[in-house]
Amino acid sequence: MDGITIRFTVNGIAWELTSDGRRRLVDVLREDLGLTGTKVGCNAGDCGACTVRLDGDQVCACLVPIGQVDGRAVTTVEGLAGADGTLAPLQAAFLACGGAQCGACTPGMLMAADDLLARHPSSSRGQVLDGLGGVLCRCTGYTKIVEAVMASGEAASEARIGSAAGSSVSGSRAPETASAPAGSAVGARIARLDGVPKVTGAEIFADDLPDTSALTLRVVRSPLTHATFSVGDLDAFTTAHPGVVRVLVAADVPGANRYGIYETGKDQPVLADGYVRFAGEAALALVGDAHVIAAIRDEELPIAWTPLPPVLGISAGLDPDAAQLHEDRPGNVLIEGRVARGDVDAALARSAATTTGTFETTFVEHAYIEPEAGMARVVDGRVEVWATTQTPYMDRDELALILGLPRDRVRVIPSACGGGFGGKLDLSIQPLLAIGAMVTGRPVRGVYSRPESMRATTKRHPSRITATFGADLDGRLTGVRFHGDFDTGAYASWGPTVAHRVPVHATGPYAVEAALCTSRAVHTNAPPSGAFRGFGVPQAAIAHEALLDDLAAALGIDRLEIRRRNALRVGSVTATGHELQASAGLSACLDALAPYWASLMVDARAFNSRAVATGTPIRRGIGIGAMWYGIGNTSLPNPSAVEMGIEPDGTVRLFSGAADIGQGSATVIAQIAADALGVAVSTLARTAPDTDLTPDAGKTSASRQTFVSGNAAKLAGEALRRQVLALAEAGAEARIEPTPDGRIVVRDGDATSVIELRELPVGARGCVLLASGTYDPKTTILDESGQGVPYETYGFGAQVALVDVDTEIGTVVVRRIVAAHDVGRAINPTLVEGQVEGGIAQGLGLALMEAYVPGRTDNLHDYLIPTVGDAPTIEVILVEDAEPSGPYGAKGVGEPALVPTAPAILGAIRDATGARITCVPATPDRVLGAIAAAGG
Ligand code: FES
Repeated sequence: MDGITIRFTVNGIAWELTSDGRRRLVDVLREDLGLTGTKVGCNAGDCGACTVRLDGDQVCACLVPIGQVDGRAVTTVEGLAGADGTLAPLQAAFLACGGAQCGACTPGMLMAADDLLARHPSSSRGQVLDGLGGVLCRCTGYTKIVEAVMASGEAASEARIGSAAGSSVSGSRAPETASAPAGSAVGARIARLDGVPKVTGAEIFADDLPDTSALTLRVVRSPLTHATFSVGDLDAFTTAHPGVVRVLVAADVPGANRYGIYETGKDQPVLADGYVRFAGEAALALVGDAHVIAAIRDEELPIAWTPLPPVLGISAGLDPDAAQLHEDRPGNVLIEGRVARGDVDAALARSAATTTGTFETTFVEHAYIEPEAGMARVVDGRVEVWATTQTPYMDRDELALILGLPRDRVRVIPSACGGGFGGKLDLSIQPLLAIGAMVTGRPVRGVYSRPESMRATTKRHPSRITATFGADLDGRLTGVRFHGDFDTGAYASWGPTVAHRVPVHATGPYAVEAALCTSRAVHTNAPPSGAFRGFGVPQAAIAHEALLDDLAAALGIDRLEIRRRNALRVGSVTATGHELQASAGLSACLDALAPYWASLMVDARAFNSRAVATGTPIRRGIGIGAMWYGIGNTSLPNPSAVEMGIEPDGTVRLFSGAADIGQGSATVIAQIAADALGVAVSTLARTAPDTDLTPDAGKTSASRQTFVSGNAAKLAGEALRRQVLALAEAGAEARIEPTPDGRIVVRDGDATSVIELRELPVGARGCVLLASGTYDPKTTILDESGQGVPYETYGFGAQVALVDVDTEIGTVVVRRIVAAHDVGRAINPTLVEGQVEGGIAQGLGLALMEAYVPGRTDNLHDYLIPTVGDAPTIEVILVEDAEPSGPYGAKGVGEPALVPTAPAILGAIRDATGARITCVPATPDRVLGAIAAAGG
């Protein structure tokens, strides 16, 4: 290779290589040295995922040319642990405190913290915020990361770490990863079972799989919002570019060139056929040598574009003169949703107070730190796809249709998933990898660049909601009229889900006599809007919570109190006619928040008095948001299956296909299964999700895995326990102790029996005993008025926000959030808190800073997500109003955590300034405009 000779050390090992001095350090580490612990999130120095230490200083390895590393020392995440594998205190603290969720940011975060602690061994919180400010985390909300860094400082004692996490750290070793005794895993703060690879850099994400024989995929995407195109001479192109093995076009799709979530919504082509509906849509794909296809300039590509007038925004989509983007969807309306109960006109007419408002939200980008990536190959006539995904079984089924293969000839193996939040529920890179592998006969790998990820994948639906709420003199809701239009972009994706879920939730978590709640999903020439943590409910909550505040003001009722008076409770009937039978803990959440509400109110009022007296422009306010969220799919089948078996050597193995996207389902499901069987969770072996090796657990979305797969795991564990007890002829209370020598010892009072496992025939999945559990929530189809039981259970919660607003420049600082969530039962409180904290950070982004503008914010320096410096102090209160149908009483919390945050922040801005924000994000210009409109 031409280049310069560079000598340097990595983690104390000397290297000498000849390379183009302009290559990125991160590429040399990953590709030449095989150190894939250093992750790539943006290749632009924005996300910090690739942070390493260079001569001790934290740097983004994507910004450092390898030529500048000559003679220097690099430390990567692989260099933190001892040679014997003993974790560094910092790594152990991350595990104990729950500082790693998906793990994509974790190596970079650890290296930034390592640099910080080298300078300030006992860092203050302010120093930690400064030291970690260059690394983005999209999962955790930073709270537990900051705890971990502070806990692992030189002055930190063992006890300090333990108290931070309710777990223990033994010296510089990791905590026991599964230390709960048999029968006590549920409710225990055990460290996540998949945590060690996340803190050592050993976790294998979709772009980490080494295969030097693989070809590389490059997708050619539309630069235009709405266009036709023609493809040039492909033979001439490939001849002119040796190293390009194949150019894929629409005709190369072997099966259906259409995919989508619903049977009636399979409308998105894998490769467009001469017509594109959004900028970023895939038109061609180059497969070949990585360096060759990367070097091809756009103007060399064999494609010519002809622009068409774009249809952008909800109003344009609904304009009768607008282009029809799908022939079978007149008026560009994909679908409508409706829930109707009682006489709304009469209810509003007799109300003591009514209020009406219109609220708008914009596109929001998932911004998971790991971009879409994967690899596909053909093995014995079957197509295997390794990729980052939230839904391996749906991927398999859709790929089978696209590839024209029976389902059993497609295998999907999910990699570790570096964050999803709904954005990895749709297919992305998988079909093109698979087609590339089929047509070339060679493995094909690929990874989206950050701009490509942002242009090509789904977003949160922009919304325009108009609603009227009425209440009687006591503040009790009388009627709700609600209509929401949602920009569903170019293709259906999860638009139907949003259109159906929003009307169900549009009243907020409140009992109301009469409601008419409707929605529409409208096609435009924007990227497809899809699933994003809440499926439209966060947008609806901004509206219903603002209107609750209006009613409280009009009727002279405290804002927390009006929510308490209206809270859905056991026995309440929802707008869909569902009478709640159990586990409706909003009142308990509000009760838990009441002392905070009172004291923060005093704080804010005192602060403002001082501010007025001193003439400073900062005003402090508090706000409250409440929520409810149906767990699982809306009125649709929603099954999950889990299996549990015992192998001849005594290994107890859990087979779950639930993709853990960072939220911790692998740990939670194991905790449930272990307790159901009656063994210590530390004894469980787990087979990772793989459509060949694990049963279908459905998708990781809709906050369903703890509830649905948790129930399946409990059933599987209980069934396996019954098998063991029957073999031992033991009673129901007997203790089960698998031993590593191929036995199960069963102790039933004074009696002990031994099952010799090797004497039993080996059956399915290599087990001598195998049990399965399947759970499908009990729901009903909603009728044409939206009446029925859309979910078996609901999560409830409320949050209080304390904010400071600079009334001169319009900036908002969120000082503190107190969050109370009814989770039924916290299977693992550390993980539940992590979900709440992460949801709050995303809710803060929705409220204050996140606005995806196609073509303008396709990167992480123009598209802002909260940094550690934006993260407020968060206190989480877990309310456990047990759900009888949940596993040990548990419900989901992934999405509920985000829903009330933006309403609480917006309410606090209004409390501070009088400014009513009706369009988010509440950027400084909007805040100033609203202050002026309020007469401030
Ligand atoms: Fe930080 Fe997922 S844990 S991005």
